[in-house]
Amino acid sequence: MTFPPRSGALPDHPGHGPSLAVALARAREAACLTQDELAVRSGLSVRAIRNLETGHTARPRRQSLVLLAEALGLAPAEARRLLRLPRSAARPAGATTPPGARVPAELPPAPRHRLAGRETLADALAARLPGRDGPVVVVGPPGSGKTALALRTAHAARDGFPDGQVYVDLHPTSCLPFTSDQLVQRVLRSLGRGAGVRGPEEARARLRDALSGRRVLVVLDNVVTEAQVRPLLVDGGGSAVLVATRRELPALPGWPGHRIGPLGRAEACRVLADLAGAARVRADRPAVLDIVRYCGGLPLALHLAGLWLSARPSRSPRELADRLADERDRLATLSVGDLSLRASVAAYHRPLPPALKASLHQLRDMEHDFGVEEMMDRVTPSRRVAVDLLEDLLQRQLIRAGEPDRSGRIRYRLHEAVRLYVAYGG
Ligand SMILES: Nc1ncnc2c1ncn2[C@@H]1O[C@H](COP(=O)(O)OP(=O)(O)O)[C@@H](O)[C@H]1O
Ligand SMILES: [Mg+2]
Repeated sequence: MTFPPRSGALPDHPGHGPSLAVALARAREAACLTQDELAVRSGLSVRAIRNLETGHTARPRRQSLVLLAEALGLAPAEARRLLRLPRSAARPAGATTPPGARVPAELPPAPRHRLAGRETLADALAARLPGRDGPVVVVGPPGSGKTALALRTAHAARDGFPDGQVYVDLHPTSCLPFTSDQLVQRVLRSLGRGAGVRGPEEARARLRDALSGRRVLVVLDNVVTEAQVRPLLVDGGGSAVLVATRRELPALPGWPGHRIGPLGRAEACRVLADLAGAARVRADRPAVLDIVRYCGGLPLALHLAGLWLSARPSRSPRELADRLADERDRLATLSVGDLSLRASVAAYHRPLPPALKASLHQLRDMEHDFGVEEMMDRVTPSRRVAVDLLEDLLQRQLIRAGEPDRSGRIRYRLHEAVRLYVAYGG
């Protein structure tokens, strides 16, 4: 992202320097930016900026300050001054970690770009941590932005967890999912409490001990079952669990989670404008709306379309729209480097039981809504089995429930990326 020419400046304080918090607030005001505007420019959350300016953040990351200096348009010398301003080197306020124990800082970076339509949600989820009723859970179909939202939320909430932040991807693409015992061991090691544990029962007890009475944030991405999360839930204390999952987890305390899905049209256009340039998007609005439609409003698909355009400044949005128009090529076009829509759907599809794979195969040409009757025609003569299969597909975020028909029966539809995958790309 590029920023307008330098407009902000750090306040001069001869003799004794200002604190970082004061300097940042003044530089923002001098640049005539609100906290919201600075958040959009810097890629940090509004909450993170508020915490910095109120001095709540005891140990800001160097990278956060670099992003802020850039977004404030500070000249290089002023940016260096900002990085040198006094901040607390002491233990973060509120930390209760015993001396010698580890304070993990495992969060991967949140996306640098803004999350269209989700920044306020990230702040709202962050404000719910630690959740009194259970973990905070984000669920959605492939490429809907679960990881991005969870990470943005975790970074916004990070300062409330001075005893550390643990991050685990429970189902990396190339591996089997973690068992709950493996996860317990892994989190214990992160907290420096893994040595000398005898057996899984003792490990769970030790983990509860390590988490209660401290303020640790545990972020679990690609959770597969409730059983993985349960050992991390402790009563009281200041620790929290934030979950991103490919399937609903109805047996977790505090369910339902936050369901996310396609973006609205305006937000989808914003994703393309942020990556490809607002002028380009404004100049060919019909083509851009076609792209949004072909991407089904899905953040990953839009992100990939935006990358396609930004890598090809001389090609028009119409050219991309024409390529995407042929749905047989769509998954191949929506692939850039190590990001691909096909891989994202495959991560949902690969672990499915054979009966669900077979059902999806039978539904592969379903472009429109369907219901139990179609399942009975194509997949199984048993109504009960058909209903169960539909519920399973729904829980696993492969189909979505649409409007009921005139007689009140629920209708379903394949998520667009899933339809393309089962029709052309598996
Ligand atoms: N709201 C959003 N606005 C813009 N880009 C987004 C948004 N949500 C996700 N993305 C981008 O889309 C891609 C897929 O998001 P990701 O969180 O990995 O999806 P998921 O975890 O659901 O598969 C990432 O490159 C991410 O940065
Ligand atoms: Mg993810």
